[in-house]
Amino acid sequence: MVGSKTQATTKRGSRLVVVSNRVTPVTARKALAGGLAAGVLAALRDSGGIWFGWSGAVSERPASEPAAHSHDKITYLTTDLSPREFEEYYNGFSNRTLWPLFHYRLDLSVFDRVQYETYLRVNRHLASRLLPYLESDDLIWVHDYHLIPFAEELRKMGVGAPIGFFLHTPLPPADLLVALPRHDKLLRSLFAYDLVGFQTDNDVRNFRDYIQREANGRLGEDGLCTAFGRTIRVGAFPIGIDADDFAALADTPEAVRQRRILEKSVVARDVIIGVDRTDYSKGLPSRLKAFELLLENYPVNRGRVHLLQITPPSREHVPEYGEILAEIEGLSGHINGRFAEFDWVPIRFIHKAYNRRILSGFFRASRVGLVTPLRDGMNMVAKEYVAAQDPDDPGVLVLSRFAGAARQMDRALIVNPYDLSQVADAIQEALEMPLDERRSRWRAMMDDLKRNDIERWRASFVEALQSASAELDRPEETAAE
Ligand code: F6P
Repeated sequence: MVGSKTQATTKRGSRLVVVSNRVTPVTARKALAGGLAAGVLAALRDSGGIWFGWSGAVSERPASEPAAHSHDKITYLTTDLSPREFEEYYNGFSNRTLWPLFHYRLDLSVFDRVQYETYLRVNRHLASRLLPYLESDDLIWVHDYHLIPFAEELRKMGVGAPIGFFLHTPLPPADLLVALPRHDKLLRSLFAYDLVGFQTDNDVRNFRDYIQREANGRLGEDGLCTAFGRTIRVGAFPIGIDADDFAALADTPEAVRQRRILEKSVVARDVIIGVDRTDYSKGLPSRLKAFELLLENYPVNRGRVHLLQITPPSREHVPEYGEILAEIEGLSGHINGRFAEFDWVPIRFIHKAYNRRILSGFFRASRVGLVTPLRDGMNMVAKEYVAAQDPDDPGVLVLSRFAGAARQMDRALIVNPYDLSQVADAIQEALEMPLDERRSRWRAMMDDLKRNDIERWRASFVEALQSASAELDRPEETAAE
């Protein structure tokens, strides 16, 4: 039996148990896609602990016990999904309902009751598979929208340990959230956690607003939120990167070799780089149109710049992802057809993943980093682009105001990705920016990346979880039902 609330300790040194939908063991590190995996791995690297979640595999009869293997100080516990769970929990409710809704795309959010039931059931199954591995003084840290009801299931099984939740995506305003059928049940299940963390103050505001308006909740000082008979702590914990580590990657022999190959292939032309999973939230069609406008409005760039757009495949079983890929391919073909010469093609569109080492070399070789999502929880590419730059001759980041990162990286050229002319003008400004200005903008952002790095994110969340759990320890309260 796992520890009850009173047994749970909040002392330093509690074992960290991380739960996320997808577990990416260190051995598969080169295939990392998305900020979550890099963040979780970095968080566990120092403290050690358990990382539990989906293996990424689909099997007819998933074993009831997770597969376990350890590497360094981390024990990976992974479980497969059945074809139905993959379809209804992962592709369905997680990625066709919550993902678009949380990225403000109500128009793309499809609600299906059966998929929702499967989502709840998978959360229950996953919780019961983790249960035998838990110890009373563990700190449990659950990640992202796939697993919102996870703590509620653990609480029903008698787990009293501190449990925190971190949402990597944005949380939309209450007016959008209420369009989700059963939104009250989903939001209520967040109250089974002790601490709920978001990327930015904006997301926290949206949550508090929802709780006040829709759940008749009370908002206290210091992020306390009371609703559904429970009090939790809520706060913003903007995720960082290991800036020094990423900067060092760009100096590794492999990164340098790849950078030279890229530089040789573009001759003396400037590279503008974009690296994004194939996802409609990344604003890729608008970005390509803004690049087209750049070539139209600033013809000096014809024959002189390349847009290197690296777009790894993602969630290929979700129809909207196939549609966005077709649109991007169509636009790149159109722009290349319109402007290319026999010895120059403006857009190099690449639909595959590169490892982080190679990407760091590509970032270092690029005069401009183009990060223009229509909505993004944080966006780690923005941070990695800056970290990879040569301090003596850094490139310029053009960043969407709708990425969580824009709240910290205000020395980037901040743009509205819906305003194509503004994006084109910002790219031009970046291409022409004098060295002094590039250096001072870069220095300020790099200093901030180092101060607010991934270790600070981990430590501040874990500390807040420990104190929230100690402070909210009220045995008379029952967990949210
Ligand atoms: O950032 C959101 C996220 O879902 C992360 O959880 C994940 O690392 C990334 O996108 C990739 O998504 P998926 O696991 O669906 O391939």
